Amino acid sequence: MIKLHDLQFKPMIPASKIEEAVKAVASKINRDYAGCTTPPIILVVLNGSFIFASDLTRELDFACEVSFIKLSSYSGTQSTGGVKSIIGLNSSLEGRDVIVIEDIVDTGVTLSHLDAQLKELSAASVRYCTLFFKPESYKQNIEIDYIAMSIGNEFIVGYGLDYNQLGRSLKDIYVVCNE
Ligand code: IMP
Ligand code: MG
Repeated sequence: MIKLHDLQFKPMIPASKIEEAVKAVASKINRDYAGCTTPPIILVVLNGSFIFASDLTRELDFACEVSFIKLSSYSGTQSTGGVKSIIGLNSSLEGRDVIVIEDIVDTGVTLSHLDAQLKELSAASVRYCTLFFKPESYKQNIEIDYIAMSIGNEFIVGYGLDYNQLGRSLKDIYVVCNE
């Protein structure tokens, strides 16, 4: 058990299982982008996906650019619904194939705001890849092309995911146990 701020968390998914899931999703992406002529742009949504993105991109076997953006919506363990706009995008997406890397898709509010903004930028294609997906919580129609792992509605931390900024550096995934 570990304590982050006021909450207790217990181990849920060991690093070895995460590694398997990352490799499995990477091979799907490799299959889909094999032989692509222009290198796709991997758009990493910070902060939560920094570890996932660094492991995933090293499994990709095609040439790609990696770019980082930010947009935060969460305070504590509940989605607030309010999403800020994309910050930090410094390359043009026009005519490019884009693969967005997310840490976790919960209600999908963040994803829908991101999707709306990306539609304005004239990318040739946009696909979404997430490490974690909460299907019972998801309320959008946007297709998520690559899902490494689906989980229930529980709140998790570790491997980049935080609870009020703590827990990101944990190697394993932990789940909240006293909420
Ligand atoms: P959504 O907009 O409800 O889909 O929430 C997406 C964002 O909420 C993610 O990018 C995370 O930053 C955060 N989030 C959702 N669920 C969790 C969780 O279980 N642990 C940590 N962060 C989460
Ligand atoms: Mg996030």
